[in-house]
Amino acid sequence: MFDWKNWHSEHFQRVELALVHAVPALEDPLDQLYAAMAYAVRAGGKRIRPLLIYATWQLGQTSPENRQEIKQVDAAAVAIELIHTYSLVHDDLPSMDNDDLRRGKPTTHKMFNEATALLVGDALQSEAFTIITQMQTPAQLKVDIMRELSISAGMHGMCKGQAIDLASVGKILDLQTLEKMHRLKTGALLRCAIRMGAILGGLPIEQRVVLDQVAQDVGLGFQVTDDILDATQNSETLGKTAGKDEQAHKPTFVSLMGLDASMTYAEELLTKSLKSLHQWGPEADPLREISKWAFNRKS
Ligand code: IPE
Ligand code: IPE
Ligand code: MG
Ligand code: MG
Ligand code: MG
Repeated sequence: MFDWKNWHSEHFQRVELALVHAVPALEDPLDQLYAAMAYAVRAGGKRIRPLLIYATWQLGQTSPENRQEIKQVDAAAVAIELIHTYSLVHDDLPSMDNDDLRRGKPTTHKMFNEATALLVGDALQSEAFTIITQMQTPAQLKVDIMRELSISAGMHGMCKGQAIDLASVGKILDLQTLEKMHRLKTGALLRCAIRMGAILGGLPIEQRVVLDQVAQDVGLGFQVTDDILDATQNSETLGKTAGKDEQAHKPTFVSLMGLDASMTYAEELLTKSLKSLHQWGPEADPLREISKWAFNRKS
C-alpha cells in the first residue's frame, strides 16, 4: 500500500535542501537582499507546487526509456517555488493585500522594508529562470520548461489574475469572472507544476491532456479552498491573517456563493480530478494524495 507520509517527507526534504542550496543566507555588509531572499524562501510553506512536479514526473518513470535523474526535477521544483514565493512577497505588500503575517512569520516587507521586499520578488523571479538554464538536460527541454513557467507566471497567468483581483476590490463579480480570476492568479502556477512534471517525465500527449484537466480542477479548487480557509480558520493555523478577504472587500467564492456552496463546489472539483486520475494505477497515488490534500488542508 502506498505510504503517503513517507513519500511526502522524502520529497519535501528533497526540495527543502535544494531550496537552501539555491538561496543561501549570505551575509553582505552592503545590503540585505540575500538575507531577505533566504528569509522569504525558508519561512516554511507547504511546497505543494514542487511536490506536484515530482508526483507527475514519477508517472513517466515506469518505462525505462524515460527514466531520468531526479536531480533535474529538483531544479524545476526549486524554480517554481521561487516564482511562487516571489508572488507571495509581492502579494503581501501594502500596495497589494497589505499583510503582516505569512507562513507564521512577519511578511518580508515587515521584517525588512518595502523596497527590499520588491527586490526580493524581482530577484527570486530571475533566479528561477537562471536555475533552469543550469539543468543538465537537452536545451529543448529547458526551453519547454521555461516557456511553461514564464507563461503561467506572467501577463497571461498569475500576474493577470492578481491584476483582476486588485481591480475587483469592493465589486461583486459574476461566477464566470471570479472563476477566471482564480484560475489565473493561483490555478495557472499549480497547473504549470503538473505540466512541467509531464514534460520532464516524457509523458505521451494523451496522458498530458488528461493531466491538464486534473491540473485545472486542482488549480481552481486550491484557490476556492484558500477562500474557504480564510473565512473559517484562525490566523495561527493559517500562518496568515484570517478573515482578510472579507475585511478587504475581496470578491471570493465564499462572498459570492456562501460557505456551504463553496465547500460543495470544492468537493465536486476534487471528485472530478480523482475521476480523471482513474486511468492510472498505483503510480498516480502521490498525485491522488496531493489532490486530496489541496482540498482537505487546514492551512
Ligand atoms: C498561498 O499559497 C497563496 C495562494 C496562491 C492561494 P500556498 O497555500 O501554497 O502557500 P504556502 O506556499 O503553503 O505558504
Ligand atoms: C494570492 O491569492 C495569489 C497569489 C498569486 C499570491 P491570495 O491573496 O488569496 O493569497 P493569500 O491568501 O494572501 O495567501
Ligand atoms: Mg492577493
Ligand atoms: Mg493575499
Ligand atoms: Mg487568500
